[in-house]
Amino acid sequence: MSEKIIKTPLPGGGLGWGAVDEREIEAVTRVLKNPETMFRYPGENETRECPLFENELCEKIGVKGALMVASGTSALTLCLSANGIGPGDEVIVPAYTYISTASAVTNAGAVPVIAEIDESLGLDPEDVEKKITPYTKAVILVHMQGIPGRINAVRAVCKKHNIALIEDACQAIGSKYFGEYTGVNSDAFAWSLNFYKVITCGEGGVFFANDEDIFLRGIYAHDPGSPMWKTGLSQGAKLAPYTQMGIRGNEICAAVARVQLSKLDMILGKTRSLKKKLLSCLNKPANYILQRVDDPDGECGFSFSIIAKDNEAAKRMAKLMGEQGLYIGSVYNEAGFPDRHIYKNWEAIIEKHSPTAAGYPWNDPSYRGNVQYSPDMCQKSLDILSRCLRFTININMSDVNMEEVAQVINYADRSL
Ligand SMILES: Cc1ncc(COP(=O)(O)O)c(C=O)c1O
Repeated sequence: MSEKIIKTPLPGGGLGWGAVDEREIEAVTRVLKNPETMFRYPGENETRECPLFENELCEKIGVKGALMVASGTSALTLCLSANGIGPGDEVIVPAYTYISTASAVTNAGAVPVIAEIDESLGLDPEDVEKKITPYTKAVILVHMQGIPGRINAVRAVCKKHNIALIEDACQAIGSKYFGEYTGVNSDAFAWSLNFYKVITCGEGGVFFANDEDIFLRGIYAHDPGSPMWKTGLSQGAKLAPYTQMGIRGNEICAAVARVQLSKLDMILGKTRSLKKKLLSCLNKPANYILQRVDDPDGECGFSFSIIAKDNEAAKRMAKLMGEQGLYIGSVYNEAGFPDRHIYKNWEAIIEKHSPTAAGYPWNDPSYRGNVQYSPDMCQKSLDILSRCLRFTININMSDVNMEEVAQVINYADRSL
């Protein structure tokens, strides 16, 4: 049998979790050695891990408010609630995102409206505009796989219609958009710190907002006891407290997250340089286009996607690549498990399943709209995903790996 193009095994590994070493272990131990410090309160306690992490984040990202919470889903729910979004409102989400983006909308009591993606693999600004109704209060722009979506174009639509822009940067920690960290110019944005993310503490999330009132509402919504714990809040806060969730940040997770934050530039330095190498070794494509990326210098660099001219070409390219030792399938994942990153597999949403017999939030009396869903409603998104082949770069890979991957892609393209 002839030699395969991939001669150097592609190493396994991840992003943040792949960078865990003695420093994270030491950070966890530091908290556990002083068990009385295992809770972020009482008071404004600036020596605790959660507030230290939040301050470090504000300084690094250039945002006024950062709040450590239990998960990315809960951080996104805060983004909506803190912007006054709830029952009766519609929120536009993309057809391609983890189901949590849509769940955050129903958590807040609002109704998700699903819009198409385009070749950026993020929201299609034209379809966003088409999906706006008198009930639309916000758009959640999701930055999938570390690549910021079309922020400028989506922001222009939001401004024109006077609706809030929320950014789901759960998968895009550390990404920038023309020089600024992704999210900083929106009404609120969220990170996930779960195991798969650029930096991780196993489970966790961060809610970010620049506006003082929106941030304060987020603090109220995340912990019914916040006016009691945070002394500054109980003394003359300018907004009356309201209660919603119990999703406080955890000191042990924050201790790990602080160490991981200090490794963010190292992780992205590696992935960005590897992706640049891969791109530089590609021939001019004949049968595919590259994913649209507004600002190639700012994206995280751990995901590489090509969009073949049709589904047949994608399948044949995947087969040719597999024969050369590079196994990547279509994002659509026809033969695989029902990937919850594609709206047609969000049965809880598209079949309008509700925790109550009353059918909340779709049948909420304050909701006057009439959103309808079906598994085939976003044909453009399904078509793009069925043509998209994606390769994930991790921090253990090398330039040689990138050269060989590019050679396989060049080979599959010219052999089609
Ligand atoms: C785009 C996106 N949004 C939201 C979330 C939810 O984050 P978490 O799992 O921390 O709740 C995820 C997590 O996978 C995600 O990828």
